[in-house]
Amino acid sequence: MAFASDEVGNYPKVGVGLAGFGSVGAGVYKHLQRNRRLLAERLGIELTVRRIVVRDASKKREPQPPRELFVSHWRELIADPEVQIVVELIGGVEEAFALVTDALRAGKIVVTANKALLAEHGQEIFKLAESKGVPVLFEAAVAGGIPIIKAVQEGFIGNRIESAHGIINGTCNYILTRMANERGLTYQAALAEASALGYAEADPTLDVSGWDAAHKAIILASLAYGFWVPPGDVYVHGIQGITAEDFVHAKRLGYNIKLLAILKAHADGAVEVRVHPTMIPHDHLLAEVDGVFNGILLWGDVVGETLFYGRGAGQDATSSAVLSDLAQAATDLIRDNEPNRFRPHGLYGRCLPIEQIRSEYYLRLSVKDQPGVLAGVAGILANRQIGISSVLQPPPMYPSNIPNPTASPEDLPALPAADSTGTHQHVDLILMLHFATHRQITEALEEISRLPYVSSDPKPALIHVEHLPE
Ligand code: HSE
Repeated sequence: MAFASDEVGNYPKVGVGLAGFGSVGAGVYKHLQRNRRLLAERLGIELTVRRIVVRDASKKREPQPPRELFVSHWRELIADPEVQIVVELIGGVEEAFALVTDALRAGKIVVTANKALLAEHGQEIFKLAESKGVPVLFEAAVAGGIPIIKAVQEGFIGNRIESAHGIINGTCNYILTRMANERGLTYQAALAEASALGYAEADPTLDVSGWDAAHKAIILASLAYGFWVPPGDVYVHGIQGITAEDFVHAKRLGYNIKLLAILKAHADGAVEVRVHPTMIPHDHLLAEVDGVFNGILLWGDVVGETLFYGRGAGQDATSSAVLSDLAQAATDLIRDNEPNRFRPHGLYGRCLPIEQIRSEYYLRLSVKDQPGVLAGVAGILANRQIGISSVLQPPPMYPSNIPNPTASPEDLPALPAADSTGTHQHVDLILMLHFATHRQITEALEEISRLPYVSSDPKPALIHVEHLPE
C-alpha cells in the first residue's frame, strides 16, 4: 500500500550509491522508491539514490532508474561527493574488499550484504572503519530479512549469549526439508529440485558444503563474543552425505535433520562455533522451520530463549535488511550519533577445537547381519568410555521400501524377526550415543570401520544430536 500522496516533505537528504544492480540492488532501489515517504516521515530524513554502478547502462531493467544515475565503476561512486552511503552488492571477496576499504578511506559509510567478505576480512575492515570513524553495517549478511544483527548488537546487549542454534542456509534447509517429507528422496534429487526452482546457485558448493552458513556463523559469533573468529577455527561439515535412510531412522527415533550453525559459550571464555547436519527433536519449533526459511534459536542469560523466523534470502527479504541499515546510517549521519560498531571485549577469546567439543551422536553403520556384530561395535565404544543410549536395526527391506517418513512412528513397519536365511546380508545398524568428545568418537569410528563385518560402502555416518533449550 502507498500513501495517498508520495510527496515527501522538506527533509535533509542523504545520498546513497548502489554498487551492484542485480537482484538485491534492484530490490533496494524499488523499495526505496516504494516506501520513500514512509521512510522519510519515520526518519525525518530523505534517502536518495544518487549513483548506481552497472556494467551495461543500455540494458532494460525493472525497475528502470534514470540513465543519469548510472556509472560504470564503483570508483566513480566513491568519488561522488553526493554519495554518503555506499552499498556494496557486488559479491565475491577480493574486489568487494577493495571497494569497501576504499569507501571507508574516503569517509563513506558502508552497507554490505557480503558474508564471505566479512567472515574473511572482518577484522581488517572493522579496524579501518574504527580508525576512520565511519560505520560498516551488515544486517543483510546474516539470515536475510531477520534482524538478527540488530538483535545481538542492541536488543540483547545486556545478555551473555549462552548459545545460538541457527538454520541459516535456505538452500540446505530446502533440500533437507524435501528429503524429510518425501519418502526415499535422495540428496541428489532434492538438490536438482532446489536448482530447478532457482534456490540453489549454479555452483551450490558454498551452500551444501556448509560454508555459506559458516560465514554467517562467524559474523554472529564475532558479535556475540567480542573477538573476530578465525574461519580456520570453525568446524564445518556439509549435507552431502545425508541419505534418505537417515531421515527414516531419524523419524523413527523422534528427530528431524537440519543443517545447524551452533554457537556456545563456555564459562572459561572458550566458545564453540560449528556448522554441521544435526538431529534435533522433531517436536521442537526449530525442527518445523521448513523449506527456504531460516530460524535462529538464541539463548541469552537474561532473556532466556528467543526464536527468530523468516526469509533468509531473496530480493525482498535482503532489501528489507539493507533498508534498515540505510535508515540507521542516515540517522547517525544527520543526528551526528556515535555510529554503531563492532565492539571487541575480553570476556571470550578462543574457539574450542572440534576435537574437544562434546556432543551426542547418531551413528549409522552398514553391517553384516550376523552374531557378534553388536558386541564388537559396543566393545569398541565401551573401551573409549562412550555410552550407547539406544540401538536400532531397521528392517532389511530398507531402502528399497522406505516407509513414508511423514507417517507417525506407529505406522512404520514392524521390526523383522531375526534373519533366518543365513546369508548375512548387510543391514543398517543405528546407535544413538551419549555425550563424547569429537576426538573420542572419531577415534572409535576409525576402529569400528576396520571391523571385517562393517561395510565401507555405504561408509559409516555420524550425525550430531542436539537437545535444544526449550
Ligand atoms: N544461498 C544462501 C541460502 C543465501 O541459501 O540461504 C545467501 O546467503
